[in-house]
Amino acid sequence: MADFHPIGTIHSPYTDPAGMPIQPAGAVGVRGTVEVLAEYADGLRDLDGFSHIILLYEFHRSHGFDLQVVPFLDSTPHGVFATRVPRRPNPLGMSVVRIDRIEGAVIHILDVDVLDGTPLLDIKPYVPAFDPRGDVRIGWFEKKVEAVSEHRSDDRFR
Ligand SMILES: C[S@@+](CC[C@H](N)C(=O)[O-])C[C@H]1O[C@@H](n2cnc3c(N)ncnc32)[C@H](O)[C@@H]1O
Repeated sequence: MADFHPIGTIHSPYTDPAGMPIQPAGAVGVRGTVEVLAEYADGLRDLDGFSHIILLYEFHRSHGFDLQVVPFLDSTPHGVFATRVPRRPNPLGMSVVRIDRIEGAVIHILDVDVLDGTPLLDIKPYVPAFDPRGDVRIGWFEKKVEAVSEHRSDDRFR
């Protein structure tokens, strides 16, 4: 297994999980920054040609996990891998965010749904031809997904 370590830090207006958005769809227009460590700054070359990026990060303020969880959007339990909850065996999160502009090693982003100070593990360009799929099934989210924009987090997954 590779030895993962942060390549930077995500900054956002959110210092507490309570009341914050649960996905970028609920954080439209919310501004944040991605501060990339100086040693990785050259890796940002050509990223300014993309409108969106995928951020991969550690849910650093979640600890432990349960295999069955009641997620934010539901009141019944589901297997942790059928959810996006922060408390997971490997506490990895991913968010597709918009790029506003890049200044040196700082990426100004929009639609941020993570806590301030979140350790960044990787950045990938979002490419519609690679990631979206048609004809998908979305399981238990089917009846809940419309609420994602309005639904807000609490601190149950610390
Ligand atoms: C449901 S997760 C979804 C995150 C991401 N878009 C995903 O799907 O992996 C978002 C919630 O995780 C929690 N959260 C965000 N950043 C966190 C962090 N650094 N450590 C622990 N919990 C965090 C907040 O409660 C937030 O509302």
